[in-house]
Amino acid sequence: MPEKARSLAEISWDAFQSLPLADKARLYSRDQRLFHVIVAQQFDRPILEELGAVATRIRRIAKLKAGMDFLRTQLPHKSAMLYFSQPSTRTFLSFHSACQILGMRTVEVRDTSTSSERKGETQEDSVRTFSSFSDVIIMRHSKGGLAEKMAWTLSNTERPVPIVNAGSGKDQHPTQALLDIYTLQRSFEKRGGIDGKKIVFVGDLARGRTVRSLAQLLTCYRGVEQVFIAPPQLQITDDILGLLRASNTRFEVGDDLDKILPEADAVYMTRVQDEWDEKAGESGRIDTSRFCIGADQLAKLKQNAVILHPLPRRGEISVEVDRDPRAVYWRQVRNGMWIRVALLAHIFDVTGNIRDFSG
Ligand code: NCD
Repeated sequence: MPEKARSLAEISWDAFQSLPLADKARLYSRDQRLFHVIVAQQFDRPILEELGAVATRIRRIAKLKAGMDFLRTQLPHKSAMLYFSQPSTRTFLSFHSACQILGMRTVEVRDTSTSSERKGETQEDSVRTFSSFSDVIIMRHSKGGLAEKMAWTLSNTERPVPIVNAGSGKDQHPTQALLDIYTLQRSFEKRGGIDGKKIVFVGDLARGRTVRSLAQLLTCYRGVEQVFIAPPQLQITDDILGLLRASNTRFEVGDDLDKILPEADAVYMTRVQDEWDEKAGESGRIDTSRFCIGADQLAKLKQNAVILHPLPRRGEISVEVDRDPRAVYWRQVRNGMWIRVALLAHIFDVTGNIRDFSG
């Protein structure tokens, strides 16, 4: 029976697919730790706090040569496959750097026109091949659900290496949400943490996978209010609102950024995701001019609020905003590296060594 399955190897693909997300999330873990990292629903508050604390410990250790030398001794026997068939700058580089910090070897496939996918090999067979050469597969793909399918597929082979979802279709980007949470933890460290804060999402909320994953992770905190500000065509979808209702999260949906800005503790900006347009140029016809931050919007924002963006940005945040101390999106980029080091350390069970290091 599906509900009794204790691992992905004990359940058929059809039965697995029909499980609720929370039950799927349970099957991605092994021995009480994260194994496959596929959806934001796998994280709860204790693990978010633990990963944040490990990331902060690692960044402190890494300041010293002796610390960097120690970190490199943690996983030199492990290798990572970076399978990125969609464009990526930050996620790719931060995972790559994270692997290097822990001494892992990396192999990469970014251009599938040079791989056997060009000869008609399925992605399933490609990923199965990758598992022969690596101990973890970090993957980004335009096909929503592919990371989940791969996690199930590999769990049913003799080399069940973990899959880490680095962005799947329009669906989820759980490690971006982890770095967003880590950035919020640090930003609100002296203001009582994330609990009780008002987080305002702005932009293309219908197709932004980072928003979908972060909205879910924020439900792990008490009294957080989520506000979704977008043109009607790009507004957050009902499935996310359903998740928020199910977790008794207060939320508001609207299109008036200027009105909400004075109440915001964090503003999470996003770009228009026009790569998903069904008709060429369709999102170019949407008026997004009211969903941008410049000097006028800064003037309305609280002094202790923060502005986040998963990047890349287009025109939705003026470059002049970068100099404002409330702009934390460049810090997010670096936080992304540290939290990914922490995640890999957790998956391979070396966080205890890192905690005990006394260099
Ligand atoms: C995001 C993504 O790929 O979803 N980028 C990232 O990983 N930081 C956001 C985006 O592309 O707009």
